[in-house]
This record gives sequence, structure tokens and C-alpha cells, in this order.
Amino acid sequence: MAELHCLSYIIATAKSLPEWESFGRDIIGMIINDKNDNSISLKMDAEPWRIKIEIGDHEDMTHAGWKLSSEAELIEYINNLKAKGVEVTKESDETAKSRAVKTLYSIADPNGYRHEFYAERTNIDNSSPTHSTIIRGKGFKTEDLGLGHILPVAKNYQESLDFYKNTLGLRYSDRIIQEIAPGINADATFFHTKTGRHHSLATGQFPSPKVLNHLMIEFQDMDDVGVAYDRATKANVPIVLELGHHPNDKMFSFYMRTPSGFGIELGYGGLVIDEKNWAPQVYPVMSDWGHKRNMNMIEK
Ligand SMILES: [Fe+2]
Repeated sequence: MAELHCLSYIIATAKSLPEWESFGRDIIGMIINDKNDNSISLKMDAEPWRIKIEIGDHEDMTHAGWKLSSEAELIEYINNLKAKGVEVTKESDETAKSRAVKTLYSIADPNGYRHEFYAERTNIDNSSPTHSTIIRGKGFKTEDLGLGHILPVAKNYQESLDFYKNTLGLRYSDRIIQEIAPGINADATFFHTKTGRHHSLATGQFPSPKVLNHLMIEFQDMDDVGVAYDRATKANVPIVLELGHHPNDKMFSFYMRTPSGFGIELGYGGLVIDEKNWAPQVYPVMSDWGHKRNMNMIEK
């Protein structure tokens, strides 16, 4: 049965590209691979880019790109979507080229962005630097685990869970239900792909001006979370959640606000699921230490 290999890239919109350029390069340590008047591409490994920012007033994620293991598996996956009654678009050669992929399909997400599917990326570059020299360690943790994870906010929680599990075919990882006030729960559900990053996508339902609550990217070395935190605070980048640790994916991380207004989590040490020994749990807290909310950041 064809299923998703990993989350490969996201595309988001922003009013200002120069802000994203310095944020991506000077705060996070990515390489600016391509920029023009309409977009900027951020590189994190041998792939041509993992994050593309396009000019737009509605600053949010517009596309999530997923990799399939082979062209044959891509075709099977697309046929399965069609058999489920999903409206699938085969994107033009021009759009495929803009994503640096051979063949590209897309479908609508119930929360207002699009999912894209491909099997083969072009312009893989194994000789150029994969990250800036401000990163102390070996760079970003990607490869088969993909870009990281996204947390799109659900308009309708049950409908979104059904879509991510039964339409996209993601594997259930676990769930967190935290009582944040008497009778009021924060509830999030986590999903992984076959390559095992604890989650490539999680969702929950709460008031939010953005579909994308946050994108997570991971460093190979723990110190890079700390020195990125120092760079961010020195540059007055708004910190959303201070350093802390999640009980389910074991991620050590902090969250800051991107120039588009959604969050980005920079992490280290995320769990990779060993499917044979995996027993999903429901956790009572989002974080087992830290991740204190910056009170200046509430609903800005
Ligand atoms: Fe996260």
C-alpha cells in the first residue's frame, strides 16, 4: 500500500522577503538558495530548498509538500486518493519545475491550504554547503526524516483527524490532552509517516489567526538550539515558548515567531518511532518541563 515517505517542504507567504532572508540566514542558519522579487528559497541540506516564502498579504502556509518513495508509489498513492473520491489536481510542468520535482499532484486540505505529492526531486546538490557556518554542529536533521513537522490548526477537529488519518494515510503516533483550566482541555493529535519521525504533522482545535501554528525543524547537535536561542534573543526576535521539552516526541526546543507571524520550533533530540515496539499513549501535559509562554506574545 502506497503511503507518504516524509514531509519534504512547505511554502508560505509573507509581506516582506528581506525580513525572511535575514531570519532564515542569520538567526536559523539556512542557506539562501534563490531569491527574486516574488519569492525566496531556504536550503537546509542537499535538496534545492525546504522552505519557500512567496510574497502575499495573507501570511500563512499555503502548501505542504510530501515525498513518496518512488514514481510507481506516487501513481499508486494518487490512484488511491481518487478511489476515495478526493479531487486530485495534476500540476503543470511549470509548477512542478518551481518545486524542483519531476511530477507533481495536489489536493485541498480542509483547513485551507494544499498538500502536494511528488517522488523525485531535481537539482539535488551534494557539493555546496548545506547550512551556514553560524551552525556549530553537523547542520539540520532531515534526509529520510524530512523537513520536520507542521501543526496546522483544525477548523473541525474530528474532520481534520479523519482527513489526516484516512485521506492522507498518516500513521497515528499519540495524543496529548492537557487540562489548562477546570473543564477546558488543550488537545493535540500527532501523526507520522513510514520513515518514523515522531510526527510530521499534528493538529488541534483552538482559536488561531493562522492555519499554521508552527513549523518544527531540528538540529543534529543540541548546542545549536542554544546558540540559535541566543541569536534570536540578541536580535529581539519574539520568543513564543521558552526552552523546554515535550513528553511524547522527547524534543528539546524553543519556539519563536517568524516574520510571517506563525511560529517556528527549533529542536534537538526528537524521537524516531520504531514501529514494532510502538505503543501509543495519551499524555497529560504538552511539555514536561519549560516551554513557558512568553506573556508578551499572547495572541499578538
Ligand atoms: Fe512542535
